[in-house]
Amino acid sequence: MNRTLKWWQSCQVYQVYPKSFLDTTGSGTGDLNGITAKLDYLKTLGTGAVWLTPVYPSPMVDNGYDIADYEGIDPSYGTMADMERLIAEAKKRDIRIVMDLVFNHSSDQHPWFLQSKKDRTNPKADWYIWRDAKPDGSAPTNWRSIFGGSAWTWCEERQQYYLHTFAPQQPDLNWANPEVRQALYHAANFWLDKGVGGFRIDAIVYIKKPAFVDGQPDSTDGLVDIHAMTANTTGILDYLHEFKKNVFDGHDIFTVGEANGVPPEDLDKWVGEKGVFSMLFEFSHMDLQFPGGAEVWCHAKPWPLTALKKALSASQAATAENGWYPIFFENHDQPRCINHFMPEGADRTLAAKAMATVLLTLRGTPFIFEGQEIGMANVKWGSIECYNDISSHGQYKRALAEGHTEAMALDAVHKFSRDNARTPMQWSRSTHAGFTKGLPWLPVEHDRNWTVEVEAEDENSVLSYYRRLAKLRKGIEALTAGDYVELLPSDESIYAFRRTVGAEATVTIVNFTGEEVSYDDNLVKGMKLLTDSYPAAAQEDEEPGKLRPYEAVVYMTQEAEKTFSKEAECV
Ligand code: NOJ
Repeated sequence: MNRTLKWWQSCQVYQVYPKSFLDTTGSGTGDLNGITAKLDYLKTLGTGAVWLTPVYPSPMVDNGYDIADYEGIDPSYGTMADMERLIAEAKKRDIRIVMDLVFNHSSDQHPWFLQSKKDRTNPKADWYIWRDAKPDGSAPTNWRSIFGGSAWTWCEERQQYYLHTFAPQQPDLNWANPEVRQALYHAANFWLDKGVGGFRIDAIVYIKKPAFVDGQPDSTDGLVDIHAMTANTTGILDYLHEFKKNVFDGHDIFTVGEANGVPPEDLDKWVGEKGVFSMLFEFSHMDLQFPGGAEVWCHAKPWPLTALKKALSASQAATAENGWYPIFFENHDQPRCINHFMPEGADRTLAAKAMATVLLTLRGTPFIFEGQEIGMANVKWGSIECYNDISSHGQYKRALAEGHTEAMALDAVHKFSRDNARTPMQWSRSTHAGFTKGLPWLPVEHDRNWTVEVEAEDENSVLSYYRRLAKLRKGIEALTAGDYVELLPSDESIYAFRRTVGAEATVTIVNFTGEEVSYDDNLVKGMKLLTDSYPAAAQEDEEPGKLRPYEAVVYMTQEAEKTFSKEAECV
């Protein structure tokens, strides 16, 4: 194996949504001990790091992304001792725990905000973004928050408005105040001292505020999307370099910034040697249905496979020399990938395996979101009241305000609700799929075939396929360190690419349609089939140059095969 890759470049990162992972107390919500109990399971997926979405004390208006204490653990998840045990048990298995830093905003119940809002002269008066009303009493600007409605909320006590990029219960911190920055660095260092292996940094593109001016309204509500007004503002990198110097430098960790909208030409300033983070989550391949940029669910448009391929290839090109690419098709904010990227009605197992093949053979660090490895799917609940996700409610309201019918508004929620990703993990044949002995906070899928227990017994399951791909990635250097070249870029049905390191190469070829398709078999001439997503019994019918519906194959050169057989013994 190539020893020059860093630890986090040759493993998988597994994202846990703790509230939905495993409940060990019967409370109906997951907890830290539930994660510790499943570390051996996570290891079977080649997991080297577990990213936890926020587990800090929180009123849970946005399920933990509204933090009331950056250096504590919410009692619903357990105690600090449970957290320390999780970090230690993970370390024994060579897994690092990665914390989510939500530093653009806190909860409105954070003691900092409770003090800040009291009056205009208290010691924390300037810790948040406060502005006077316009002469007519209206909000300082016409910015629309990401969850809908004005981004400003009036505070009676202070007789001023405060800014919130997200919900009113998530006031934005004032990074222009050096005391605020130091307090945040202190929190991040608190977790480094506990031994965490890295950070995912939330909504980081919004920390530097531009001039507070109105924008051109983009809808009938007279407001403009705040992202268009405040993301990636000049000067943001000065803050980020200071952050890096005070927190990340000198630690063997990785950092991944949630940084929508950083243009590829600026990437070297954000990642890699000269940049700030190890990786950036960007969403060009996730937001294809929103070509204008604004994520308005009821405006979603269909997109062709070539658009997905173009976006992925552009990200591969941008990170070929700068930093490293975090590959992801799911997270806690996105629909399930089989629903997002595959046609409605596609065979669930084959669709999940096709997405797995791309995820685990592209160049970069694969991020697996809990349940993705067993092919978990979107939900379709009967009314908006069934949904917990704050964003679903905002989007539903907006759709109605724009004149869509209730059925249309609900259809958009079915497709894009963040609850699609947040339903409890399906472990076993038991009640509530083994997630809880109590009442689950969100409904659990009824079909017990899609559980870890059932899939672990089946060599043709999605789970077994993920485990196999994890071993292949570990055993074949081309799959981790290899360069990426796209093949057949204009093909509307097939995504194909080659990964090469020295004489070793692999070729991945995936059919995104329910039809049989063909390709030029010269692409794999002289190569050997490394893996096929079809069931074992159907694999002898595999033929170079042809793909069955949703079939995914990976070929390798003889050189790769030689290295693999040596390495396979140590897997
Ligand atoms: C991005 C997070 O991924 C999302 O879940 C959250 O609602 C917002 N940032 C606000 O923190």
